[in-house]
Amino acid sequence: MVNIAWIVVEIVIFSRCHGKVADLLFPNIEDFTRNFADNLFNQPLFRDATKISTDVLASSVGVITSLPIALARVIGVGPPLPSLFSNSNLVALTDNIIAEYNYGLRNEDVSLTIDQLILKYGYPLEEHQVITDDGYLLTMFRIPKLGPPVFLMHGLAASADDFVLGGPESGLAYLLANEGYDVWMGNARGNKHSRHHEYLQPSDGAFWDFSWHEIGYYDLPSMIDYMLNNTDYEKVIYIGHSQGTTSFFVMASLKPEYNNKTSLMIALSPVAFMTNVKSPLIRLLAPGNALLHTILHSIGMQEFLPDNVVTRTLKTLMCGHSTIATIFCANTMFLFGGFSFDHLNVTNLPVIYSHLPAGAAVKQFVHYGQGVVSTDFRQFDHGVVVNLEKYGVAVPPSYPLQRIDTHVSLLCSTDDWLANPEDVHRLYSHLANVDLYQISEFNHFDFLFAKDFKTVIYNRIQKLLKTV
Ligand SMILES: *[C@@H]1O[C@H](CO)[C@@H](O)[C@H](O)[C@H]1NC(C)=O
Ligand SMILES: *[C@@H]1O[C@H](CO)[C@@H](O)[C@H](O)[C@H]1NC(C)=O
Ligand SMILES: *[C@@H]1O[C@H](CO)[C@@H](O)[C@H](O)[C@H]1NC(C)=O
Repeated sequence: MVNIAWIVVEIVIFSRCHGKVADLLFPNIEDFTRNFADNLFNQPLFRDATKISTDVLASSVGVITSLPIALARVIGVGPPLPSLFSNSNLVALTDNIIAEYNYGLRNEDVSLTIDQLILKYGYPLEEHQVITDDGYLLTMFRIPKLGPPVFLMHGLAASADDFVLGGPESGLAYLLANEGYDVWMGNARGNKHSRHHEYLQPSDGAFWDFSWHEIGYYDLPSMIDYMLNNTDYEKVIYIGHSQGTTSFFVMASLKPEYNNKTSLMIALSPVAFMTNVKSPLIRLLAPGNALLHTILHSIGMQEFLPDNVVTRTLKTLMCGHSTIATIFCANTMFLFGGFSFDHLNVTNLPVIYSHLPAGAAVKQFVHYGQGVVSTDFRQFDHGVVVNLEKYGVAVPPSYPLQRIDTHVSLLCSTDDWLANPEDVHRLYSHLANVDLYQISEFNHFDFLFAKDFKTVIYNRIQKLLKTV
């Protein structure tokens, strides 16, 4: 207990300070960074990487020793981190959570794949392969019904699994299928269901040379065309979560003909402008704080590996070692989405953990990180030389949001670390045909998994669907 309380205090103090003070607060900072470096280089990935040169090692050590300052800067920007265990009786909360979590570990759903889950809960299932114009093979899961087709698109490092992990009571795919909607769930290139390409392998760096720009520019249009070609409807209803909204905005602004193929876009936790993002993981990837990017890039690693020493160190710094901290930091999810627990179905956490994260390219994180610094929603910044070659201008072009004319319904929450309402309001002001619904207390993942998902989020979605 003492431990948790101390960590909370520490984080609150830490969050109000900048580098120098943060170093004073961590008197053992030298040991910490040395251990950090030792751990890093003992990773099999680093040990076995053939491309490591002494220069790279030297520069990585430089990056690593500046971690505490980088962290302080990260956390010092914007409002302080909310304390991890606010508004609750710590003792009761802790005991209950541990008991519920342990109970959840016995759930067989932990080890079932998405297709097994859908069949287990009594729904029909089809699996489709879609090929993109640039050669990626994507898997779509469908719960076929006769009603209008709904396209569900997942977020960063996630997959179609997101829409069934809530279980039959709360999973969006099930709730829509119950009402007769023809549910199609997409999978972006690079996640665990979409790791094939006509001639590239995931072991090739070139396979991972994409951000959410390519997901919006190639993957979404191919999947929408495929759906329309296999149903009797002329338009799809689009529901995206997080990066599933970012990629939609990319598509609908750069390929405006797809506005005509979408009757309604529902954006859960919409992410476009990143200025006020609180997630330390995304902030660390912003240029200038390019910790992970630098390290991974310098050894030629393009695939994002969430359980590496960087995220593990962040977890330890933010969560400590207690049982309860281990439960909430067993997965990078909360480091991305925020620590607000009121709507969490703790029993279901083991099921979620066993399906998330689902894989992504480093460039997806870096592109978000660039948005934090540029404060703009714009194409990938390759540096002036390549920008001139690719875009004809030194600064990457902004996405022309004004070209989106599909009706967009934005749903956001004040306790979301990624889709900060200030940024969502800014997005709102750029869209022509839009409405906004703001709630509080929901973190980024509550928009998928909250125990009251049905009464809060689905209720709203139902109202919106009636307008189509
Ligand atoms: C549409 O379906 C037909 C028949 O299955 C197929 O020949 C055609 O290639 C499909 N087009 C697209 C864009 O998927
Ligand atoms: C959308 O559809 C309308 C009516 O079918 C058509 O006039 C318009 O050109 C289309 N817009 C785009 C961008 O394809
Ligand atoms: C909470 O999680 C459990 C275990 O997965 C599940 O059986 C239950 O339906 C969930 N509760 C709600 C309200 O979704």
